Amino acid sequence: MAAERKDDALELLKRDHREVEQLFRKFDQTRDENERSALAERVCLMLKVHTQIEEELFYPALRGKLEDEMLNEALVEHKAAKQLISEIEGSEAGDAFLEARVKVLQEQIQHHVREEEQEMFPEVRKTDLDLVALGGRMAERKMKVMARLGAELEIEGEPKSFSRAAERDESLEREERSRPAASRSHERRDQPRR
Ligand SMILES: [Fe+2]
Ligand SMILES: [Fe+2]
Repeated sequence: MAAERKDDALELLKRDHREVEQLFRKFDQTRDENERSALAERVCLMLKVHTQIEEELFYPALRGKLEDEMLNEALVEHKAAKQLISEIEGSEAGDAFLEARVKVLQEQIQHHVREEEQEMFPEVRKTDLDLVALGGRMAERKMKVMARLGAELEIEGEPKSFSRAAERDESLEREERSRPAASRSHERRDQPRR
């Protein structure tokens, strides 16, 4: 009897990789400054969650099973990416360096993802790790981290450096419109006009 199919750890990570690549592509194709800021913010959020899950659960599960060198290199690459991520998060909309920062981050991530998928993951497949169980723990942790980082964005309120991702805005506004004004806990979050 076929068990219900669950993503294993590698499939979960690869899905994240594709999602981030798509966001980078969208950023490339978008000219509107506010939209670009929102996309950059989304990329940073996705990457923060992804690297945290890898560092907390995935890489530690591989210690002793893969070469330390491979894992250490991945960690150093994460650290470099986080430096750029924090610079991007500190960028104002219209910042002349935003594009350059996102471009360099994209190149770094491309390199890192290639190494993970072409060198690390095939080695991981050869180990005796239960990748479905690990994937389950990672998916659960990912939900929690997303919720926590999502909540942080909420508290920031009016966008100073970044606005929220467009689709999130739309669903929030739909929700807002369906509630009486008195129960609204915050004001509209329109993109600032510059
Ligand atoms: Fe990854
Ligand atoms: Fe990674």
